[in-house]
Amino acid sequence: MNNFPTYNASIIVTTNLEVELGKILSRYPEDKLFLVTEETCNRLCVPLIASTPGFSKFKKVVIPSGESNKKLASVEKIWLFLSQNGADRKSLVVNLGGGMLTDLGSFAASTIKRGMDFVNIPTTLLAQVDASVGGKTGFNFNGLKNEIGVINQPISVIIDTRFLHSIDQPNFISGYAEMIKHGLINSVDHLQEVQNFDPKNPNFETLIGIIARSVAIKDEFVFQDPNERNVRKALNFGHTIGHAFESYAMEIDQPILHGYAVAYGMLAELYLSHKVCNLPLEVVNELSTWLLALYGKYTIEESRYEALFQLMTHDKKNEGSRINFTLIPAAGEMAINQNCDKKLVFEALEYFRNLNR
Ligand SMILES: NC(=O)c1ccc[n+]([C@@H]2O[C@H](COP(=O)([O-])OP(=O)(O)OC[C@H]3O[C@@H](n4cnc5c(N)ncnc54)[C@H](O)[C@@H]3O)[C@@H](O)[C@H]2O)c1
Ligand SMILES: [Zn+2]
Repeated sequence: MNNFPTYNASIIVTTNLEVELGKILSRYPEDKLFLVTEETCNRLCVPLIASTPGFSKFKKVVIPSGESNKKLASVEKIWLFLSQNGADRKSLVVNLGGGMLTDLGSFAASTIKRGMDFVNIPTTLLAQVDASVGGKTGFNFNGLKNEIGVINQPISVIIDTRFLHSIDQPNFISGYAEMIKHGLINSVDHLQEVQNFDPKNPNFETLIGIIARSVAIKDEFVFQDPNERNVRKALNFGHTIGHAFESYAMEIDQPILHGYAVAYGMLAELYLSHKVCNLPLEVVNELSTWLLALYGKYTIEESRYEALFQLMTHDKKNEGSRINFTLIPAAGEMAINQNCDKKLVFEALEYFRNLNR
């Protein structure tokens, strides 16, 4: 079998990427094909798609790798490249890279000339199960993660695990956190298969099916609520506190990987889930032990709670001064719009700090 079942046909999980991409390229004029990638992927991933029919027609722009380049200057570089090379509304932009690149490239394609078609080809586990799907695009601004952006869906996302062989272990384990999240909010079966998979010694044959099921969970939430008015908020589990950790880490120049921030955020939000939604303490403890063993310790000082809380108030999903969380009443179930006050958020941070001592 070359393709794996997904929730919607535009997300293609395949072992035959060249064929799938080739079919899409053939629908566009030869002089309107644009490839956007970053330095590491230009070296490691572009050669893996070079035999795609139509590949030689691509005009290519390469931006520097890494989260610190998810900034306006990189978007400008892509806009300039597209503008100077005759891109128009009949063009196709193919974004090849991790979540940093797919967020940026999708934003650039969505905004130039009021938007052109784009395809994401995610090359990290995190981007395959999460970032490349769902249409959230954008870049970091004013010290805040994803501060500027639009929601706009790719015409297709093509997922092939071949790219993952060159991923380093921290980045692999980072992506694994989003699969854990999908299991926790939606499916005990998925959680079980994720727990049975060893991210430190990955079996790529098993992985492709797990990715297909994980991305299908995300995609179903997106499909039901593309603009995140209600059920899509489920996907924010671990992210409200996780984003605060991530932004803070960026602020003090000691960045942490997105999935690690999410794992730390899930630890603190498991505590909130216990307090607000009665998630049983045994479940909190069991999951905490597992997550800590995988993601290691992350130390935060008590003196940082206020700054972290302030970062949470910037989160786009809040209502008033209380912070809006997605929590889990049980493993495999979610509850959106759980507002927590500052005192409770500080308690959750304290719980997290004590776990990490
Ligand atoms: N849009 C969304 O819904 C959404 C969801 C989750 C995360 N994100 C965003 O995604 C970003 C994180 O994504 P990421 O973890 O993929 O980061 P990333 O794109 O920075 O990639 C991580 C590292 O892996 C390298 N890399 C990429 N592909 C590789 C490959 N095949 N082999 C070896 N190295 C490779 C990159 O150069 C980089 O150094 C963050 O900016 C986050 O905000 C977006
Ligand atoms: Zn995430």
